[in-house]
Amino acid sequence: AEPDLERLFEHTIERDQRIEPRDWLPEGYRKTMIRQIAQHAHSEIIGMQPEGNWITRAPSLRRKAILLAKVQDEAGHGLYLYSAAETLGADRADLTEKLISGRQKYSSIFNYPTLTFADVGVIGWLVDGAAICNQVPLCRSSYGPYARAMIRICKEESFHQRQGYELLMTMMRGTEAQRAMVQDAVNRWWWPSLMMFGPPDAESPNTAQSMAWKVKRHTNDELRQRFVDMSVPQAKALGVTLPDPELKWNEERQHHNFGPIDWDEFKQILKGNGPCNAQRIAHRRKAHEDGAWVREAAAAYAAKQEGRA
Ligand code: 3HC
Repeated sequence: AEPDLERLFEHTIERDQRIEPRDWLPEGYRKTMIRQIAQHAHSEIIGMQPEGNWITRAPSLRRKAILLAKVQDEAGHGLYLYSAAETLGADRADLTEKLISGRQKYSSIFNYPTLTFADVGVIGWLVDGAAICNQVPLCRSSYGPYARAMIRICKEESFHQRQGYELLMTMMRGTEAQRAMVQDAVNRWWWPSLMMFGPPDAESPNTAQSMAWKVKRHTNDELRQRFVDMSVPQAKALGVTLPDPELKWNEERQHHNFGPIDWDEFKQILKGNGPCNAQRIAHRRKAHEDGAWVREAAAAYAAKQEGRA
C-alpha cells in the first residue's frame, strides 16, 4: 500500500498539485514543512518587536495608525502560519517553547535595533520587500495550507512595502537631517536584508530537498539576486545610495553584480550573538509568561463548558 501512496505523493508533486493535510506524505516532508512554517511564524511574531518599538513615538497620528496596522498584520501572519503548522500535527505551545528555548529559529533580520523612525520606512521598503520576493513563489509551495496562507500574507506585505517606501519618499523631500537619517538606515539594513534569503546555495543543507519537493520554487541565491535587481532602481528613485561599491549592472548577465556578504556576521546571529537576540527572546518569554493566566482561564472556562454540555 505504501509504495502506491509514495508514488501518488511524487505524482502530485510532479503535476504541480497540492499536498493536503489528509494526504499521505513522507516523514521527511512533514518534518521540513513544520520546520519552515514554524520558523516563518516565529519570524512574524518576533518581527513585531523592532517595529513596535516606534508605535508610541510615531511622528503623526497617521504614521502611528499605519504602523499599528502593520504590527497587527504581523501577529495575524504568525497565527495563520502556526495554524498551517498544526495541520501537520505540530502543537503551537510546543513551537513557542522551541522558539523561547532557542531550539527553533526566526529570521536573522529581526536581531538588529531600530534606532530612528527612518528604520520603520526602511524595514517596510527593504525587509518587507525581501519578504515579498521570498514569499510570492511560496504561494506555489506544494503544501496546500502553507501556499494558501502565503496568498493572503503577500497581499498584506505589499501594503507594508508601499507604506515604507512612501514614508521614505516623504522624508527624502524633507530636511537635510531627514535625508541623512534615511541614508543611515539604508546603510544599516541593506546587507542584513540580503542575508534574509539564507546562506549561499552551496552552503544550504535544505535547498536541494526543498526544491525537489517544490516546497521552495527558487534557490536562496536566485531570490537574493532578484531582490537586488528590484531594489537598485527603487533606491535611485528614492535618491539613496546602496552601501555596496561593487554594485553595478552586468549587461552580459542581465543582473547586477554585488559585493561579498559577511557570512560570519550571519553565522554569529544564527548562534544567538546578534545585537538584539537576547532582548528579543527575553521579550517573547516575558510576553508568554505574562499571558499564562489568560490561557489557564480560557482552558478552565472550556472545561467548565464541556462539563455542562
Ligand atoms: N535567519 C535565520 N535562519 C536562517 C536564515 C535567516 N535569514 N536563513 C537560513 N536560515 C537557517 C535555516 O532555517 C536552516 O536552519 P534549520 O535547518 O535549523 O531550519 C539553515 O539556516 C540553513 O538554511 P537553508 O537555506 O538550508 O534553509 P531553508 O531551505 O529553510 O531556507 C529560508 C531558508 C529561505 C528562510 C526558507 O526557510 C524560507 O523561505 N522560509 C520562509 C520565509 C521566511 O521564513 N521568511 C522570514 C522572513 S521575515 C518575514 O517574513 C516577516 C515579514 O513580515 C518581514
